[in-house]
Amino acid sequence: MFYDYADSGSWTESTYRANEEDLKRVLFRQRVAVDIASRSLRSTMAGQAVSMPVALAPTGLTGMQCADGEIHAARAAEKAGVPFTLSTMSICSIEAVAAAVTQPFWFQLYVMRDRDYISRLIRRAAAAECSALMLTLDLSIMGQRHKDVRNGLSTPPRFTVRNLVEMAMKPSWSLPMLFTRNRTFGNVVGHVPGVEKLRTLGAWSNEQLDPTLCWEDVKWVRDQWPGRFILKGIMDAQDAALATSIGADALVVSNHGGRQLDGAPSSIAVLPDIVRTVGSQMEVWMDGGIRGGQDVVRALALGARGTLIGRAFLYGLGAGGEAGVIRTLEIIRRELDLTMAFCGVTDVQKIDSSIIWNHESTG
Ligand code: GLV
Repeated sequence: MFYDYADSGSWTESTYRANEEDLKRVLFRQRVAVDIASRSLRSTMAGQAVSMPVALAPTGLTGMQCADGEIHAARAAEKAGVPFTLSTMSICSIEAVAAAVTQPFWFQLYVMRDRDYISRLIRRAAAAECSALMLTLDLSIMGQRHKDVRNGLSTPPRFTVRNLVEMAMKPSWSLPMLFTRNRTFGNVVGHVPGVEKLRTLGAWSNEQLDPTLCWEDVKWVRDQWPGRFILKGIMDAQDAALATSIGADALVVSNHGGRQLDGAPSSIAVLPDIVRTVGSQMEVWMDGGIRGGQDVVRALALGARGTLIGRAFLYGLGAGGEAGVIRTLEIIRRELDLTMAFCGVTDVQKIDSSIIWNHESTG
């Protein structure tokens, strides 16, 4: 059920699929007889040096893909020289991840109705020396994912016979899970009065997503965070233009991996318009459908300054823990490097739409 949770999109999953399919339609111009011997993938994201313009996206329940999943993913990102973003809905807490890494990570925030809790959470992220706050704007209500409904993945989870049999048949997942202390939402339990157990947590989280979230609240959050600030979940140039008044360092073009508004266009389809509208005022990044290094090149070519991967690293994490995420990032790095080179470009920061074949008809 945790694989399904990561893998699912909302309703018909058409936006989830469009994210991948539209990326594949962006074709490269193969160039030859260009000196490509010396190449660089180094860049910056919101002023932070990165070994390639790929960050690990905030993903909920990461510590259920494998025991202590957020810690494994954060350590892998640190070794690979790319940013890791911890979700509000993580299993390992901000403090547990901070204690396990040596470099600062980023923290993703959902605005809940309990604003005192949100202020405390922001202070906890600052105390843990998180180097950026990423505010998600597209989940003030929850998209319906049929697979989660079928699997009974809710808080508290409904332990069906099938779930229990599956857990028993996967000891490499279940045994470490039995021994870790991190088995519930670490950023919430123990930090909200009265929320101590899964059952009370269920009631709390169901009523806490705040559908009243608006730009005033975004300003309220921004005012409490002195550091780098990133807005995630923008799919419309008009919203991107509104975001410019907030003073954010970066904006992530994202439809939440097709998990929220099914029927929305793919992220890559709306990216060029948003870059045209606000790209001179803040960095525009993209997530949604990026499964390999070639997709990173496609997003950069259509104007993104950086990319986020979610499912791509979760698959590596579920398969092989920290080593699996390191392997994922190595695969992406190699594909990015070779694709850029075949297009006749030697510096990732110089990738632009000139490497796209027939750009007019794709753009
Ligand atoms: C949370 O971010 C989710 O998409 O489930």
